[in-house]
Amino acid sequence: MGSDAFDAIAESIDTALIVVTAAADDSRAGCVVGFHAQSSIDPQRYSIWLSKANHTYRIAMRATHLGIHFLTADDLGLAKRFGTLTGDDVDKFADIAVSVGNGGVPVLDACPNRMIGRRTAVLDEGGDHVCIATEIVSAHGGGRFEPLRLSQACDLEPGHDASDYLDGATETLDRPRQL
Ligand SMILES: Cc1cc2nc3c(=O)[nH]c(=O)nc-3n(C[C@H](O)[C@H](O)[C@H](O)COP(=O)(O)O)c2cc1C
Repeated sequence: MGSDAFDAIAESIDTALIVVTAAADDSRAGCVVGFHAQSSIDPQRYSIWLSKANHTYRIAMRATHLGIHFLTADDLGLAKRFGTLTGDDVDKFADIAVSVGNGGVPVLDACPNRMIGRRTAVLDEGGDHVCIATEIVSAHGGGRFEPLRLSQACDLEPGHDASDYLDGATETLDRPRQL
């Protein structure tokens, strides 16, 4: 089924890492995300994929806006905080500088390269991640930067394994749905 080739391609892409944040009611959430991309030029859209296992996914489903923070090569500490801890156990925002953006979304002051997206659509095609499309409502740039890449963070142990959600799984890529 070519899963080695799939993994080799994904590794070669060496995606840039971001932190996605969300808030709903009195809860704040955020996690490291490697699955993300610009998905329209005009209008400006940005899409991210959240793991069904994550606290951030559950909050994002109730949020109107998402914070999309682009990590730099110096941000391994932030990646460790947001990629290895889970909001199910700790408040990741407790001792860092956070502002409030559109729709109450938490904005990480330490990340000058960031956008806020309004949630416009959600696609759950049965895998372990869900696509959330956003319309960009604000963007802030800190100048050109060297992204933190997957290869620099591959030793981090995610706070939730993506397979944690599997008890209620529907379709998987091993059993593609007949279209
Ligand atoms: C390098 C790396 C890439 C990751 N990519 C994603 C991703 O694309 N989407 C996602 O939802 N989680 C991703 N994760 C996992 C979450 O960041 C991690 O499980 C986090 O601890 C979940 O926190 P939460 O339960 O508070 O949401 C990634 C983690 C790491 C270390």
